[in-house]
Amino acid sequence: MRTDICDLLGIEIPLLAFSHCRDVVVEVSKAGGFGVLGGSSFAPEDLKRELTWIDENVDGKPYGVDIVLPEKLGEEMAVDDETLLAMVPAEHRRFVQGVLAEHGIELAEEKLLGMFGAGVTGDIGERLMDVILRHPVKLVANALGVPPAYVIERAHAAGLPVAALVGAKEHAIRQVEAGVDVVVVQGTEAGGHCGEVTTMVLVPEVVRALRERDLMVPVLAAGGIVTGEQMAASVVLGAAGAWTGSVWLTTHEAETAPWTVEKMLAASSRDTVRSRARTGKPSRQLRTSWHAAWEREGAPQPLPMPLQSWVSETGLRHVDKLAETGHEGARELATYWVGQGVGLMDRRKSARDVVIEMATGYADATERLAATLE
Ligand SMILES: Cc1cc2nc3c(=O)[nH]c(=O)nc-3n(C[C@H](O)[C@H](O)[C@H](O)COP(=O)(O)O)c2cc1C
Repeated sequence: MRTDICDLLGIEIPLLAFSHCRDVVVEVSKAGGFGVLGGSSFAPEDLKRELTWIDENVDGKPYGVDIVLPEKLGEEMAVDDETLLAMVPAEHRRFVQGVLAEHGIELAEEKLLGMFGAGVTGDIGERLMDVILRHPVKLVANALGVPPAYVIERAHAAGLPVAALVGAKEHAIRQVEAGVDVVVVQGTEAGGHCGEVTTMVLVPEVVRALRERDLMVPVLAAGGIVTGEQMAASVVLGAAGAWTGSVWLTTHEAETAPWTVEKMLAASSRDTVRSRARTGKPSRQLRTSWHAAWEREGAPQPLPMPLQSWVSETGLRHVDKLAETGHEGARELATYWVGQGVGLMDRRKSARDVVIEMATGYADATERLAATLE
């Protein structure tokens, strides 16, 4: 098993695992894949703590970090985080309070507003890069458009490749022209923010477009990939491997709230929804009464990113805690980002076992494919 991404990152299995959970990152890297820590919700000092822990536990295996820095914020967003926070309308807070109350959950309106994550304004991106560059990180990835120029410049100066997530052919071309070294082509099946085209169509479309322009960088397929057979299919489609997120959410190590894990294990591939109701941008999540509430007549329009997260995240995290106590309304509302591959996730496993199963499935699929030529 050897592709361009294995050579670039020094890994044995062309399997990248995005996770907000450091334990998953460490286990995947130790098993021969490549863990990527989702750093979007960490302030610089938290990121430093997480990376230090990874360094102490990863046995020298390579790993990466993913940050979510928009290329540029809209003009109305070019203010400090406190001013942004004050822009969340009372109507939205009252709406969320109402949805919770319908499910038997009381939460004071003022509690339903909190800056989630490290913030997006000021020099936060530079400070996250300062932290990343002090650790033996082997890949910096960025979601949400072309990474800001300083991310690419500083990573390259340190000899680090930069990856970026794309959901459309035009974005892939723009990213590589801007200096991105690895393109993660993410289909609509994916958990989290996603576009509208399927992985099966988008991967060959991007591979062909880059090849025609002589923009020769490794492409990773993402979106719906949960098995080794799908990983092999990615390579058949022209990718150098798979970038995965959802499959780790039901592992023993994951950060996912326990009740939500139960819901995921029981869910079918039709139980997700691409909705703006959590972050303000379309992102795929487990469909629950939270989404039904935002879709009904008279509901306010979700706010632009990052404001929607600041009005939804506090309430939904509270819901997760209540769901643990058996609260019925909370159990109904509880949701998290997950892709359509959730229909294939039906058992709790360790992250290491997922890597081993995927590597085995990849080898089996490759043999089956080769046998068709005999
Ligand atoms: C819970 C969750 C959170 C995610 N958060 C981010 C993020 O912060 N940054 C990012 O680049 N991608 C994020 N993603 C997308 C993943 O990087 C990956 O592209 C996606 O999960 C692949 O599709 P799959 O979920 O079908 O495996 C997230 C995905 C999930 C499931």
